[in-house]
Amino acid sequence: MIALSDGLEIAYDDVGTGIPTVFIHGFPHNRSLWAPQVNALVDRARCLAPDLRGFGDSMASPPYSMDQYADDVVALMDAANVERAIIAGLSMGGYVAFALWRRHRARVRALVLADTKAGADSPEARQKRRDMIALAKERGSEGVADAMIGGMVGKSTREKSPEIVDEMHAMLAAAPVDGVVGALEALMERPDSTPTLATIDVPVLIVVGEEDALTPVKESEAMHAAIPGSRLEVLSGAGHVSNVERPAAFNHVLTEFLASLTLA
Ligand code: MLT
Repeated sequence: MIALSDGLEIAYDDVGTGIPTVFIHGFPHNRSLWAPQVNALVDRARCLAPDLRGFGDSMASPPYSMDQYADDVVALMDAANVERAIIAGLSMGGYVAFALWRRHRARVRALVLADTKAGADSPEARQKRRDMIALAKERGSEGVADAMIGGMVGKSTREKSPEIVDEMHAMLAAAPVDGVVGALEALMERPDSTPTLATIDVPVLIVVGEEDALTPVKESEAMHAAIPGSRLEVLSGAGHVSNVERPAAFNHVLTEFLASLTLA
């Protein structure tokens, strides 16, 4: 499906029936990141999974910012006639979820914050983004994939499931360079969402892989402490893409969370 956001084409999947749930991928993924959840939830949820601008089949065009990505997601909710949805974001998708909460909170039924964190980039992290931009321009997304794959999956996955490592590497390497550079600039400039946490008054599920090296467990614990009534699940044997590394365990906690919302 295609939605227009200010004339820019945003590609998305819209499958299943039930409670509307929007799945927002991280950097530099595309909507297929969420396939293990979308495929498992089609009987319970209407699953909407966009490619953020500059990724997958969506068009690449500035401006790139967490606010713009959030507005694009809301444009697709409008196109799909979805007033309110559970917003599930992994890593950068979580940063987008925070922006969506700040700008469009009436559209948010609940939040799923997976392998993400609230803080902004430190000066060192910003320098790493600049280096990554230079690498992307020089070696393309293959170079970015080579640099990122080690942190993207956990130790257990690297040791036991090389096919998942290959699948993730292929996803990262397929990202359009313009989208990658735009997203890196947006990541560098993103605001600190820590003050946002206490304002969240919808149900929140936080999920993190125990071996996540990019957004470690302590970041999720800090979000859990700051978001009133939130629930935290730590998945053993999973790294940064915990939904792909331990899909059954991830789907179990997600399904329970969905059930708690439909009962409420
Ligand atoms: C992601 O997976 O979206 C990125 O690792 C997020 C980040 O680099 O901050």
